[in-house]
Parts: sequence; C-alpha cells; structure tokens
Amino acid sequence: MMYNIIQNAHSGFMWLAVAMLALSVVFSLLKMMKNEKTISVPLFKLYNYTKQLLYIQFVLGVILLFISPLVHYTSGFMKNEALRFQGLEHPLMMLIAIALVAIGLFKSKTKATSGQKNKMVFIFYSIALLVILLMVPWTAVLS
Ligand code: HEM
Repeated sequence: MMYNIIQNAHSGFMWLAVAMLALSVVFSLLKMMKNEKTISVPLFKLYNYTKQLLYIQFVLGVILLFISPLVHYTSGFMKNEALRFQGLEHPLMMLIAIALVAIGLFKSKTKATSGQKNKMVFIFYSIALLVILLMVPWTAVLS
C-alpha cells in the first residue's frame, strides 16, 4: 500500500522532473546567448522548483531503497544486473545528477550577469538531464 503510493509518485514525478529539466536547459541556453543585464525572476523560479522536485525524488527514492521488493542487499547482489542497477547504480548516479543541479544553481547565484548565471545552469542542468535520462529504468516505466 505505502509502497505503491511511493513507487507511483517516484515514477510519476519522473516525467515532471525530466520536463522541467529539459525546459530549464532550453531556456538557460537561450538566455545565455542573449546575455541580458537583468535576470528573469520566473526563470529562476523554474530552476529552483526543478531542484526542489529532484530533492523530493531523492527522498522518495531513499524510502524505496528500504521498502522496494526490487532492492535486496544480499551477498552477491553485485553480480545480479537488475539488483545492482536498482540498489546501487540508479541511486548513486541519480544522487550525482541531483548534486549537479544543486551545484549549478548555487554557482549561478555567485555570478554577476544574467548570461553568466544562465551559463552555469545550462552546463550543470544539461549534464544532470543526460545522466537522469541514462539512469531511468525505461523498461519498468514503459512496460
Ligand atoms: C538518489 C535519488 C534516487 C534514489 C535513491 C532512487 C531509488 C529508486 C529505487 C530504489 C527504485 C526501485 C523502486 C521500485 O520500483 O520498486 C527506483 C525506481 C525508479 N526511479 Fe529512482 N531513485 C532516485 C532518483 C530518481 C530520479 C531523479 C528519477 C527520475 C527523474 C528516478 C526515476 C525512477 C523511476 C522512473 C523508477 C521506476 C519506478 C517503477 O518501477 O515504476 N529516480 N528509484
């Protein structure tokens, strides 16, 4: 019951997170090239909400590590491709992606101009998006 709710939330938010990350990447690229003096407040809200949604994904994911039937830290779990993916590779790489988003947003705040700020977001968010797209268990999502 609780597992179903959390698992559905975690896989449902995946679409929202990917969409918001993709929007952030596109808009930050456009803004980076325009290099305006003033920053766009709604856009930085989008960047911030994207980070916060990924934090929620992180919390849900950590709960899933404890309650998911797909995760077993038995001896030899490293030798089983599916167990290694859900119990180690997916969580670890997603954690790295979320850290990249947090670092990118933090770094953008230390920059002076809109162009420089958006450049930080573009670089870090696009790498994070790539990592996430590579580490989503698509077979589970699309089946
Ligand atoms: C460090 C952060 C994360 C941890 C610890 C984590 C952990 C997990 C775990 C343990 C599962 C297996 C759950 C199950 O299906 O029984 C899972 C599945 C999944 N995760 Fe994550 N995850 C994290 C981040 C993310 C992110 C950022 C996304 C996408 C934006 C994502 C998307 C998914 C999807 C789509 C599934 C498949 C769910 C299903 O079976 O329908 N995860 N995650």
